[in-house]
Amino acid sequence: MSEKTVIIKIDGIEIKAKAGQTIMQAADEAGVYIPRLCYLKDLTPHGSCRVCTVKVNGRYQTACTEPAVDGMEVENKTQELEGLRRDIIDMLFVEGNHFCMFCEKSGNCDLQAEAYRLGICAPKFPYLFPDRDIDGTHPDIFIDRNRCILCGRCVNASRDVDGKTVFEFVGRGSEKKVAVNADAKLGDTNMALTDKAADVCPVGAIIKKRIGFAIPVGKRTYDQKPIGSEIESKS
Ligand code: SF4
Ligand code: FES
Repeated sequence: MSEKTVIIKIDGIEIKAKAGQTIMQAADEAGVYIPRLCYLKDLTPHGSCRVCTVKVNGRYQTACTEPAVDGMEVENKTQELEGLRRDIIDMLFVEGNHFCMFCEKSGNCDLQAEAYRLGICAPKFPYLFPDRDIDGTHPDIFIDRNRCILCGRCVNASRDVDGKTVFEFVGRGSEKKVAVNADAKLGDTNMALTDKAADVCPVGAIIKKRIGFAIPVGKRTYDQKPIGSEIESKS
């Protein structure tokens, strides 16, 4: 039986979506890039970062969670939405300690890559310089919460793919942080280097030990091409 198709328009261009797909999934398949940070294909969408905010029939929605519905008119690449995305990313930079020149993830970091894509050269808000926990107790994996953007990818990957629930969020507002399923430290958990959760962090908060700089800065994924190019090359 053939799958039902719905037609939506993104920035005036008609694209076909399969019934049940989100706007993000349909756009990705059609080669239209919608910026994102918390979304990762194959993980349950978390809808937390709001970077993928689009306008659907004039109303703000997150493209990673909103189902594609026949006849939808979606705005994606507009000055207004790109401005909103720049503000979100600006805030994420100043709320944490993201010093790209000292971070092992530089060149492979989605936050840095989205900032470059959106034309951010320096944050416009003042840095808050938080002082958050770092955890080096695991033999193979390190967590620096100063760089955590609370995207939830590690929480979902550990729960849905690894079946371990190593990570969870605790606290609210500015006190919210990613915690581990052992009350104490990552070294007390059953997390393994091969876990999906060890691979999904979009920034330099979850880092594998002893393999830093295996690919030198300048030759890393986003040093070669902007984030989203892989999707756009399909169109
Ligand atoms: S540690 Fe990384 S993957 Fe987990 S919530 Fe923070 S930024 Fe996201
Ligand atoms: S990518 Fe959709 S809310 Fe983060």
